[in-house]
Amino acid sequence: MKCKDLISIADLSFADIEEIFNVTRELKEWHNKGYDEKCLTGKILGMIFEKSSMRTRVSFEVAMLQLGGHAIYLTQNDIDLGKREAVKDGARVLSRYVNGITIRTYAQETVLELARYANAPVINALSDYLHPCQALTDLYTIKEKFGTYNNLKISFIGDGNNVARSLAQVCVRLGIHFHVASPKGYELTTDFVTKTKQLADGSDLIHLSHDPKEVADNAHVLYTDTWVSMGQETEKETRKQAFKGFQINNDLLKIARSDAKVMHCLPAHRGEEITDEVIDGPHSIVYDQAENRLHVEKALLKLLLRK
Ligand code: CP
Ligand code: NVA
Repeated sequence: MKCKDLISIADLSFADIEEIFNVTRELKEWHNKGYDEKCLTGKILGMIFEKSSMRTRVSFEVAMLQLGGHAIYLTQNDIDLGKREAVKDGARVLSRYVNGITIRTYAQETVLELARYANAPVINALSDYLHPCQALTDLYTIKEKFGTYNNLKISFIGDGNNVARSLAQVCVRLGIHFHVASPKGYELTTDFVTKTKQLADGSDLIHLSHDPKEVADNAHVLYTDTWVSMGQETEKETRKQAFKGFQINNDLLKIARSDAKVMHCLPAHRGEEITDEVIDGPHSIVYDQAENRLHVEKALLKLLLRK
């Protein structure tokens, strides 16, 4: 992996992604045999969280501990980055204490600014714009379940949000067709789609629709996420109305392949974007997906922090 940071999947090459997946597989196999390589002994990760988190916070912290390092959880109350002091000062000072920084924040620009001024590697742990650690985990999980990601139909039903954008980027970089059904006004933007196409030499791998049935038809993977992301709470009622009909339920699942897998980055809003019967049913791989956050992040930390 050549880049210093993980800000966006657009910064990763095909070979980088394969390297991350190979290291993930090795670390996961060793972990399941009861052994964790202590490749980060003495290394410290500073984890800035300006939004809530369960999976990302816990998986990164556990990842550091399992690899022999340590993690420090820093909330807005602790450091108040950008208000108590400039992002660039925070970046420079933190880099003198820690060997890596994760940040979960609102603006993608904050992640970019932190990375620009930090000597330590910076990992985007979710911004309003992107969620790269999630999307890498999702494609790793898909490969684990299907044995390949070639010639699969991966379909996302819902908001053209941070999770959808990172999934689009990783699919296009890997040469996979990515289908998205969103209500009008909530699609991936034309600007984003045009830029993302360049990750696969301009090939048309992103297919946008307003019809969940069309997108679910014969799909290998049905994926969804919340209709109301963190920071959009004031739009909750409008969004709930707009997304009616964009739910993964048994009727939609019947249109997909009989061996289709259902994915969700979690946290799920049962009865909204996904029904209980689907998330608890035999097609759901959401908990394996959540577990793999740990293994993929261990690979990312090993590759980025050992430099
Ligand atoms: N999927 C995910 O990032 O979960 P958290 O918000 O709990 O970290
Ligand atoms: N789109 C969601 C993802 C949570 C993991 C959010 O940003 O809140």
